[in-house]
Amino acid sequence: MKNEEILQKTRTFVETCMSGNDPSHDFSHVRRVFDNAVRIADTMTGCDRFYLEMLVLLHDIDDRKLAAAGAHRVDDFLETLPLSPSYRQRISEGVRQISYHAYTQKPQRVDLEVAIARDADWLDAIGAIGVARAFLYSGARGHAIYGGPDETATTLHHFEEKLLGLSRCLVTEQGKRMAEERQAYLYAFYQRLCAEIKGER
Ligand code: ADP
Ligand code: NI
Repeated sequence: MKNEEILQKTRTFVETCMSGNDPSHDFSHVRRVFDNAVRIADTMTGCDRFYLEMLVLLHDIDDRKLAAAGAHRVDDFLETLPLSPSYRQRISEGVRQISYHAYTQKPQRVDLEVAIARDADWLDAIGAIGVARAFLYSGARGHAIYGGPDETATTLHHFEEKLLGLSRCLVTEQGKRMAEERQAYLYAFYQRLCAEIKGER
């Protein structure tokens, strides 16, 4: 099986897996992350494009928020592909390292491709698309915009606890450049939202 056939099989698998997700994590997220990743990779040398695309495609399949607890859908799927055990292991490990949770829990050196996929994923959580996704995520779970019985389960809290600081976590030069305008937009939106909530605007 050629690499392009493996990628096509993986795209089909991922599209099926994500079809039941709320729209903040549908397959269009994967397409945008892939586009971001290509824009970053195009500025760098030594990137394994096959590995990068596999990471991007599989990065949210076993996400703790989206999959059943203890799901091993990525590893089970990788078993079906004609890859060497070491390459399979590399993809499996790389996918686990992409998540923000892994990033905050265990700072560690990662492959260039993991760093690119991470930056590309985080770019999709800021800017206008990031605003849209945060509200889709909250809406799907019935979270309030602000206030509510649990202040920590609100969209505004998610902005403060994670999204507003995300652009500082990016590591690639191109990713950082792409994040600038998105970060400015996200912050302006947040400020405006707070002002309107307070009745100042
Ligand atoms: P990662 O895939 O890097 O672990 P997440 O899956 O936590 O990141 O976040 C992906 C998307 O879901 C982002 O757009 C983020 O804003 C949104 N999201 C995650 N948690 C929340 C939350 N508690 N409230 C609102 N949006 C959220
Ligand atoms: Ni993602």
